[in-house]
Amino acid sequence: MNAMQTVDEPTLDTLEARARQRTGAFGEHALIVCDSLVRIYQSEGVEVQALQGLDLLVEDGELVAIVGASGSGKSTLLSVLSGLDVPTAGKVRVGPWDLMAMSSAQRVAYRRSMVGFVWQQTARNVVPYLNATENVAFPLALAGVRRKERDRRAAELLEVLGVGYCADRRPGQMSGGEQQRVAIAVALANSPQVLFADEPTGELDSATSHDVLEGLRTVNRELGTTVVVVTHDPGVSEHVQRTVAIRDGRTSSEVVRRTHTRDDGTEHVVAEELAVLDRAGRVQLPREYREALNLVGRVRLALEESHVSLWPDRPVPTRDPDRPTGRHSATPTGAVPVVPPPAAARPDQEADR
Ligand SMILES: Nc1ncnc2c1ncn2[C@@H]1O[C@H](COP(=O)(O)OP(=O)(O)OP(=O)(O)O)[C@@H](O)[C@H]1O
Ligand SMILES: [Mg+2]
Repeated sequence: MNAMQTVDEPTLDTLEARARQRTGAFGEHALIVCDSLVRIYQSEGVEVQALQGLDLLVEDGELVAIVGASGSGKSTLLSVLSGLDVPTAGKVRVGPWDLMAMSSAQRVAYRRSMVGFVWQQTARNVVPYLNATENVAFPLALAGVRRKERDRRAAELLEVLGVGYCADRRPGQMSGGEQQRVAIAVALANSPQVLFADEPTGELDSATSHDVLEGLRTVNRELGTTVVVVTHDPGVSEHVQRTVAIRDGRTSSEVVRRTHTRDDGTEHVVAEELAVLDRAGRVQLPREYREALNLVGRVRLALEESHVSLWPDRPVPTRDPDRPTGRHSATPTGAVPVVPPPAAARPDQEADR
């Protein structure tokens, strides 16, 4: 220790230890990181904000469903993640790939090696004049894989997806659900770490959708592929651990499924919907909540021991007819009694959207 140093001064060792303890960058350990993602489209002079500061983390090995109203930004997000589109602002990383800073050659390499895709239109996923085996073998041939290995891999993937019996059939000889499961096998041919699927069940009835979603689940479980699937299927949260809802270009809530063990040892699954608090501290209040309490504009927030409460900013009705009514804040004169919140805060206006 330096003779000049007083006892209270931190040593290099303590500073280093402190630096190690400091929490890392947002989503440092996640496989997929979207940090304040913005995508603005200009069309005919009109600006459309498809993604408005979207945050999303996906861990390696997860199976995540993305749901949301039409136009909420789901396909835009998947286009960005699959390397087809570049966001206007924000950060996006998939594994070691920084999708904001890739050259076009890197983009091609990323799309060939890191990720696979399945689209809603079956015709976009499979080649009509090739049979299922040839469809799966096709990307492998492009990658220079030998014939024998290609056929082995194709047979294995078709089997995992439960469509081994379609090996010699062309797409026209299969049902929509079978074609989509073959499409998943095609997308997995080059063993990507992540699979993106944009409404793979969009053209299917509910029974067939079920098979396709189960196919994705099998792929996730048996091959360890991380899967992000966009779907309109209301039953999707039955199939996945985590369902992320997007509203107005942002992640707004998540349904998380947890398995609980009862006292008698039997297991049951509980699905819980949670709101998402973004990194700027914003949370979207469901429309029903806002309407029920007529929450608009300013609201009051109060920090309680274990939670935060939120009240409308308006006087509480009183029984005393002499008391003034109208729009007031709590004042030291006590003109309007204000129930509970000890501290009034002005949350970001975004919370009221
Ligand atoms: N190329 C584009 N040019 C201009 N606006 C676009 C473009 N692509 C998407 N948008 C707009 O961006 C918003 C988000 O579109 P996106 O396709 O991501 O929605 P989505 O959630 O996938 O909807 P759906 O469920 O209907 O597929 C919409 O308002 C859409 O009109
Ligand atoms: Mg879409």
